[in-house]
Amino acid sequence: MADNKSATLRLGDKDIDLPIYSPTAGPDVVDIRKLYAEGGVFTYDPGFTSTASCDSTITFIDGDKGELLHRGYPIDQLAGKSHYLEVCYLLLYGELPTGAELEDFEARVTGHTMLHEQMTFFFRGFRRDAHPMAIMVGVVGAMSAFYHDSTDIADPWQREVASIRLIAKMPTIAAWAYKFWIGQPFIYPRNDLDYAGNFLRMCFAVPAEEYEVNPILSRAMDRIFTLHADHEQNASTSTVRLASSSGANPFACIAAGIACLWGPAHGGANQACLEMLEEIGTVDRIPEFIARAKDRDDPFRLMGFGHRVYKNFDPRATVMKQSADEVLDLLGIDDNPKLQVAKELEKVALADPYFAEKKLFPNVDFYSGIILEAMGFPTSMFTPIFALSRTVGWISQWKEQLDDPEHKIGRPRQLYQGATLRDYVDVEDR
Ligand code: CMC
Repeated sequence: MADNKSATLRLGDKDIDLPIYSPTAGPDVVDIRKLYAEGGVFTYDPGFTSTASCDSTITFIDGDKGELLHRGYPIDQLAGKSHYLEVCYLLLYGELPTGAELEDFEARVTGHTMLHEQMTFFFRGFRRDAHPMAIMVGVVGAMSAFYHDSTDIADPWQREVASIRLIAKMPTIAAWAYKFWIGQPFIYPRNDLDYAGNFLRMCFAVPAEEYEVNPILSRAMDRIFTLHADHEQNASTSTVRLASSSGANPFACIAAGIACLWGPAHGGANQACLEMLEEIGTVDRIPEFIARAKDRDDPFRLMGFGHRVYKNFDPRATVMKQSADEVLDLLGIDDNPKLQVAKELEKVALADPYFAEKKLFPNVDFYSGIILEAMGFPTSMFTPIFALSRTVGWISQWKEQLDDPEHKIGRPRQLYQGATLRDYVDVEDR
């Protein structure tokens, strides 16, 4: 890290020099690690709005420019010219693969798509109507009970096998969570299909009929996976890193990431967005919901709008919108009421000064739900699909953290506002 610059913090009559690092892109970073030792104070940054929790070489976001780069490559080029497994390779190993490297990687992933057969009993232990995300959190966490030979994080070979297993098995787990939920037989993976086509087949095929993968839907599915592959230190990725900082095994760490992703402010937003469009129902009710979103006393927010980092536009949303148009066109859908509401809502919100001033615009989740619904997925599958796509990002960040010789257990401090020392009072005296 280049650090010829420094900042001086005056605390009472004491000056503390803090090194400043210049990243290859993005704002400079002030290193405050010695602040407590030298100044006896903590910093306070709930929500990490000004805090870099680690250094990383994987993904860069410029929120003002609406730029998202994976290992330097812009997301629109990757979504347009590459495909998900190639992007997985890029995220995991840092460079685009040669033809031979890609072939080898695809073969390694394909060779791990099946689940341990005893995991079917584990699936069957869930309540019949369990949300697929609940099943995913449980099943992925339980992988550490089925794959003991890849839980030792000190062994690079085991780390590699765990990474490949997670990427390979996540579509099978997500599809089976869906099949269990709708009461259909599990469909086993077919290794002659590509990653996205295989997932579609495992979700939509039934043993009683032939299923042919539609190449345009498979391409759209692959693009959804690619657009969600990584997003630097977001809430779920930070959760994975924090869980991993204690030395937890990879399956437990990824299960923690899935749990965090589930929330409606994060990966759950695509489901929440479609449910919101359903609740709005007809375009004439849009003003009522816009008014609610603007009302400070109403907790309602426009789901699929706004982003912590993007303050201009979400580059993933631009590609996703194009994909939505292609898929809806292919499927001949132009009279879907939710689509009508979505289009009008987008228009009304973008023209409203409230949203312009607060830099709120549609994010990736606003459009992904529309495509996924058109493809036949119920809303409860939207977040599991996000989770399976993001698995490679979580793993890449997890691997990066383990390879960092300086990594420590994550242990934030606090601004304590509670009672100070007091004596216990016996119950009869209270
Ligand atoms: N609708 C209405 N007002 C909003 C919205 C919204 N969707 N998002 C933010 N605001 C307002 C908010 O009320 C606040 O107003 P004020 O300054 O008057 O208090 C201001 O904008 C800033 O909001 P914030 O909560 O401080 O911003 P944040 O950076 O902490 O939150 C967010 C980012 C994504 C959680 C938030 O915009 C949100 O809740 N959006 C809806 C959920 C959503 O679509 N999430 C998906 C994010 S993209 C997928 C992913 O990466 O996970």
